[in-house]
Amino acid sequence: MDNNPPISRPLLQAESLSRRFGGLVAVNNVSIDLHIGQLHAVIGTNGAGKSTLINMLSGETGVSGGTIRLDGIDTTRWPQARRARAGIGRSYQRTTIFPTFTVLENCRLTAQAAAQYPWRLWQAAGACTHSMSAAREVLEVAGLSSAAEKIAGSMSHGQKRQLEIAMCLATRPRVLLLDEPLAGMGAEESERMLSMLERVKQTHAVLLVEHDMDAVFRVADKITVMVNGQVIASDLPERIRNNHDVQVAYLGESPIT
Ligand SMILES: Nc1ncnc2c1ncn2[C@@H]1O[C@H](COP(=O)(O)OP(=O)(O)O)[C@@H](O)[C@H]1O
Ligand SMILES: [Mg+2]
Repeated sequence: MDNNPPISRPLLQAESLSRRFGGLVAVNNVSIDLHIGQLHAVIGTNGAGKSTLINMLSGETGVSGGTIRLDGIDTTRWPQARRARAGIGRSYQRTTIFPTFTVLENCRLTAQAAAQYPWRLWQAAGACTHSMSAAREVLEVAGLSSAAEKIAGSMSHGQKRQLEIAMCLATRPRVLLLDEPLAGMGAEESERMLSMLERVKQTHAVLLVEHDMDAVFRVADKITVMVNGQVIASDLPERIRNNHDVQVAYLGESPIT
């Protein structure tokens, strides 16, 4: 059956997170759980606090209140690099590829950067082989194997976004935070990205912020709806679709189609 609620304990557990910017409360008392094997979508109008929430989970922004636990360990005050090493991966809205390198080299570089220990120089050759196989593996998951030898900068916008996620996967995260990965994509590119997300969520805990409702309802196992920094509903997709508060507050009373 689709959309089974997971039975595992959450891998990432955020409790009562808040973030103030001066007088503005961008995120107000938000709790969210992420599980391996589950894609949790966060939706809401512009300015609802979705990116700020992701930034707090990744460590790019400090919290004003609340706690973030990874595998039961309090990571709330950890800097971003430490959280990344502990398995929290994220993609950015700006593209962060190395444009003159091939697609495969891009993934190998991030795999190597994540695996490298400077005091183990004598293992460099082995690490390189390992990074190469990790890179090929993530390209397969990303559906980019046939583009492995392409120069990254020459790819379409959609493929660059896929590569960016593949590069993140090459660092072997357990949690993947995605902020509007479908932005600016055509139908075919979106389709490829969604197929990729369906594969990736099998083995990762994914948080997806996305405006495209068709996409969200296709891939999400759970949906949290934010309005003005607060969660107004968090439930299975079918229940969100029929939730009156969500329809009124976010969807202007027209049912989600
Ligand atoms: N660094 C910042 N400084 C001041 N205000 C910010 C900052 N980042 C976000 N905000 C404000 O916080 C609110 C939530 O923003 P954001 O999290 O980007 O929303 P969303 O991603 O849902 O569109 C907005 O009003 C935005 O202007
Ligand atoms: Mg945003």
